Amino acid sequence: MERCSLIAPAKINLHLEIIGDRPDGFHELAMVMQSIDLVDRIDLHSISTDTIRVRCAHPDVPNDRTNLAYQAARLMAERFPETFANLGGVEIHIEKNIPIAAGLAGGSSNAAAVLVGLNLLWKLGLTQSELQELSASIGSDIPFCISGGTALATGRGETISPLPGMDGLHVVLGKFRNLAVSTPWAYKTFREHYSHTYITDEVEREERRQNVHAGPMVSAISHRDGRKIGELLYNDLEKVVLPEFPQVAKLREAMSRPGILGAMMSGSGPTVFALTETAEQAQQVRDGVKAAMADEDLDLWVAQFFSTGISTVEGV
Ligand code: C5P
Repeated sequence: MERCSLIAPAKINLHLEIIGDRPDGFHELAMVMQSIDLVDRIDLHSISTDTIRVRCAHPDVPNDRTNLAYQAARLMAERFPETFANLGGVEIHIEKNIPIAAGLAGGSSNAAAVLVGLNLLWKLGLTQSELQELSASIGSDIPFCISGGTALATGRGETISPLPGMDGLHVVLGKFRNLAVSTPWAYKTFREHYSHTYITDEVEREERRQNVHAGPMVSAISHRDGRKIGELLYNDLEKVVLPEFPQVAKLREAMSRPGILGAMMSGSGPTVFALTETAEQAQQVRDGVKAAMADEDLDLWVAQFFSTGISTVEGV
């Protein structure tokens, strides 16, 4: 096999709770993650020189080693140097549809696709959990992006427990094109304001994780109760991002239209999403928000819950 094409879905957070600090400088989290069918396409081609090349037509996607997809290929080349030496390098082509620096894990999902794709291209035979373990060294969201669907993510975000699939719900996403929020900034600012609430005792931390695992959001997902999921949406990072970026707060308000199940910011933002029961409601919300905001810089998408992570494109 000399080429491989993959679908890399975006994610939203249905629950994002910051529990405390970790010795590695990251935050201890309890999150419920959900894949959506807003996807990038990743094409991998073997090339004879031992280089890794990234190509993307989107002007804001870097094609150097700062790109997580590049880092994923570099990681595989370092872990499997003989295979890399024998089979040569790889060209990674990214068809970008997921907005960048948006809180939707677009970069992480691209990296996840490169790991899954190189495992196939190089016939390494790694299992999904081996790939997930490997991937955590380059980004906390990548293990989730590999398996996708609906899942609980704890630790740095890299420890994944799958939850019953929640397909059927629809999502309207809104993001100002020229607005990006730095994830390190969001976590650092949260620490500055809220570290007094951080839990340090390991027994209490485990209790908090268990509270999420056995808590109302997971129960609502198990019962496929969209209304309850909408009511229970929770994201600690809203506490720092919304006051700093009033446009995001305004968009969240505009998205909170009658009839929706709930609205919230995803990850560290600035994307805001609204959940609806049907595709028609989602289109109506999108049209309503577009008219109410009347802002040329605002991009809106309609998507739905997606039950898988990285998948290969058949017939390639
Ligand atoms: O792992 P990832 O590269 O996505 O994280 C980006 C940044 O977000 C980290 O450098 C860190 O500042 C912050 N972060 C954190 N705790 C986590 C995940 C991310 O503080 N669990």
